[in-house]
Amino acid sequence: MSKKRKPLPSEPIEAEIESLAHDGRGIARVEGKTVFVHGALVGERVRFRLTRRLRRHDEAVVTEVLEPSVQRVEPRCAHFGVCGGCALQHMEPAAQIENKQAILADVLQRIGGLAPARWLPPLAARDLGAHWGYRRKARLGVRWVPKKGRVLVGFRERGSSFIADVQRCEVLHPAVGEHLEALARLIEGLSIRERLPQIEVAQGDGPVVLVFRVLDPPSAADCDRLLSFAAQSGFHVYLQEGGVETVRPLPGQEIELSYRLPNQGLTLAFEPNDFTQVNLELNRQMIDQALALLDPQPNERLLDLFCGLGNFTLPLARRARELVGVEGDAGLVARAEANAVRNGIENVRFYTADLYAQASPRTGANSEPQTAHQAAAQTGAQAGPHPSPSLPLTATPWLDEPFDKALLDPPRSGALEVLDWLASSGVQRILYVSCYPATLARDAAKLVGELGFRLEAAGAMDMFPHTAHLEAMALFERR
Ligand SMILES: C[S@@+](CC[C@H](N)C(=O)[O-])C[C@H]1O[C@@H](n2cnc3c(N)ncnc32)[C@H](O)[C@@H]1O
Repeated sequence: MSKKRKPLPSEPIEAEIESLAHDGRGIARVEGKTVFVHGALVGERVRFRLTRRLRRHDEAVVTEVLEPSVQRVEPRCAHFGVCGGCALQHMEPAAQIENKQAILADVLQRIGGLAPARWLPPLAARDLGAHWGYRRKARLGVRWVPKKGRVLVGFRERGSSFIADVQRCEVLHPAVGEHLEALARLIEGLSIRERLPQIEVAQGDGPVVLVFRVLDPPSAADCDRLLSFAAQSGFHVYLQEGGVETVRPLPGQEIELSYRLPNQGLTLAFEPNDFTQVNLELNRQMIDQALALLDPQPNERLLDLFCGLGNFTLPLARRARELVGVEGDAGLVARAEANAVRNGIENVRFYTADLYAQASPRTGANSEPQTAHQAAAQTGAQAGPHPSPSLPLTATPWLDEPFDKALLDPPRSGALEVLDWLASSGVQRILYVSCYPATLARDAAKLVGELGFRLEAAGAMDMFPHTAHLEAMALFERR
């Protein structure tokens, strides 16, 4: 028998916000119970309405700010609070990044029991305008809503699977963010409007590619409509009918995507569905900081794990004797190799390997060097876009090579699997670039507690302003 839920009180509750949760919600305590309050900042006295009661805590949303924080600003976006894309627009940008630095300190301490010897000043956009319109990679949800008789295009609503009904987005690059309505109207006119669940946005320094995921093939009239939209808007339209290997441009729409790294004199090309850093300005700052911290020397060999299309590998290769980049996606490795050739860089080798496959310290097997393409052929993986990680770690020749320094830039799950091996590879310095502080802290605890490194420096990076997403860099030196 289902237990009847107690109705939520309709009267607002008044309380003071004691701290900020990692997802940007304010934390209050009411009659001994924790309440997570959307839209509230530390130190504020607010009224809020409960939206959900759970055993250990309650959830709520602000209805009135009685005593505002000095950090409070008017959110720029009319949809803030409804759209789940942003969580911090009501907080001054400088305070957002200070808060992220404080969260990093808290997570390193709580999970890793660590504090760095020195704190790096947090990396953030240099001018205020660059806190907006920074996002050049995104997956936009698309939904035909019969009740509204409209198509919606955008991010999901906060805490729900519905697409938020937004007209524009302030964090997407304006080339896309100002055209969400136009995209929705375009899709409304297609015969497959109910069979088009998402659009992948990809943009480097120049043009924008929109990859329309289609569950049914578009009709000839649909294709004409998409092409005339492309001609008017300047977007380049691609279709994806199945897996990523099916991504293809409509006739005449093919374009090369690329971004420049002016300080290193590099241009990196990529495919629309490739992993690239979403915020170009922050990416440039991040690379400059990585070079300064790792400080590669002309006689040194460096390793770049989870190297993608060579975003860090090629800048590092400009300064070091030799670079080895390792990545699980053979398509990205092919792009990394092509980017090295395009930029005239010869002191670099790339390998495809599944870095989460277990390798015991110094157990590398093969002696024959393998290029990404040989590796892909051996495992049946394609060298096209996005085959899954293929080559097991124990079958890759670079495992037996000595390295002076290493850079790690893993996905959210971290890099625990490679740490034992890395420690035995002779590296004296490791720069860890993280998109998830909890796994960074876990891995840092192992490097420091078990593998003989010390945490020399750490700092947050505001790659995604106005969201609670936190990226960080941590430098480890062998003790
Ligand atoms: C945060 S991205 C970093 C990419 C690159 N360093 C950059 O800055 O563009 C993480 C990378 O890890 C790769 N990756 C994910 N799982 C992997 C695995 N099991 N083995 C090797 N690489 C993997 C992804 O394909 C992606 O390129």
